[in-house]
Formats: sequence, structure tokens, C-alpha cells
Amino acid sequence: MDLEKAFWLFPPRLVVLISTVDKKGNENLAPHSAVIKLYNNQFLIGAEKEHDTYRNIIETKEFVLALPTIDLASKIAITAKPFPKGVSEFKEAKLTPLKAQKVTAPLVKECIVNFECKLAKELGTVNGEALLLGSVLTAHYNEKNVTTEVQTRLSSNVVLHVSKGQVYTTIDGKIVDTKTDYKKV
Ligand SMILES: Cc1cc2nc3c(=O)[nH]c(=O)nc-3n(C[C@H](O)[C@H](O)[C@H](O)COP(=O)(O)O)c2cc1C
Repeated sequence: MDLEKAFWLFPPRLVVLISTVDKKGNENLAPHSAVIKLYNNQFLIGAEKEHDTYRNIIETKEFVLALPTIDLASKIAITAKPFPKGVSEFKEAKLTPLKAQKVTAPLVKECIVNFECKLAKELGTVNGEALLLGSVLTAHYNEKNVTTEVQTRLSSNVVLHVSKGQVYTTIDGKIVDTKTDYKKV
């Protein structure tokens, strides 16, 4: 039994970008697919403890969860690269940071919706992966992208992760191979 292959049978997962700052204000951005929207305006995130995203969330107790669209697939792969601490993935991927309303971490201008969140609870760590519960404080989106609930969800161009941080898809099956190795800077 090959565990990696077993997980190939698991469907593609939603990709979000998590924007954070450290206590000096250095911005950071990274894609995350271990994300669940819970019932009461909360997100549950799985983040590796060695990543800047985790460290910054613990330092500042806040983050922005932004939803990219499939046209940003190549930029998503760039933000995943292991840049040294202090290097801004916003600059590397040419994404635009915008001032948020209630948190210090920036919004991502190009994303379809940005949720400003505060860390509600660190639930624990298993296998080096911390489980973080974030409460949504406020959100930003463009009304022109919203029609009815059903239509908005189904016409959405949000990004699902298919393979190795390189291949992405949408819910209606548009596949994009970014040909980017996200493990290499
Ligand atoms: C599509 C995709 C999804 C990812 N999901 C997660 C995740 O849920 N949790 C995590 O800790 N790392 C995840 N990663 C890896 C991080 O994004 C990557 O290691 C990044 O360099 C971490 O950046 P940071 O140190 O600035 O936080 C994912 C990578 C990709 C490409």
C-alpha cells in the first residue's frame, strides 16, 4: 500500500492564500489547501510549524485568508516557493498588497474575496502540523462577482489543487499546468 497513491484518490482541494506579517511588519504570503470553512464564520487551518505563516500567525494572532482565481495559478506556485524569511511573496509573485481594515496583514487585491481573521485558538500539533482556528472579523469582495448563492458558487473560478503545487483545476474542470517546481527558488 502506497499512502501517496491512496491520497491521489482524494479529490482536489481548495487553494487559499494566507497573508500574514511578522511583528516587525514584514509581509508574507503562502498557498494553503488544508483549510475548512466551519459553520460559524470560522476557518480551520493546518499549517506546518516551521513555516513563516505559522510563526507570523502565532506572533500577531491574525491573518488574511484570500481566495485566488485560476488565472492566478502561476502566481500561486511562486508564492509557495521557499524564499528566505523577510522576502515578500507579494513582490516575488507580483501580487498587490492592500491595507486591511481590522488586521495588520495585507489583503490580496487580485483575489476574489479576502477574509480578515483573528486567531481564535491554536488547537494543537500533530506530525508537525498545527491546527489553527480563525474567526472572521470582516470580508472584502466586489458585488459585481455575486449574483444568487447557487449561481455564484457554481460559476466560481476558484482554484483546486491537483498535483505537486504545479497543476491546478476549477470545479468545472479547467486544468492549468504551471510547469513550476514550487520547492525550488
Ligand atoms: C497548493 C499548495 C497548498 C499548500 N497547502 C499547505 C497547507 O495547507 N499547509 C501548509 O503548512 N503548507 C502548505 N503548502 C506549502 C506552503 O505553501 C509552502 O511550504 C510555503 O513555502 C510556506 O511558506 P511560508 O514559510 O512563507 O509560510 C502548500 C503548497 C501548495 C503549493
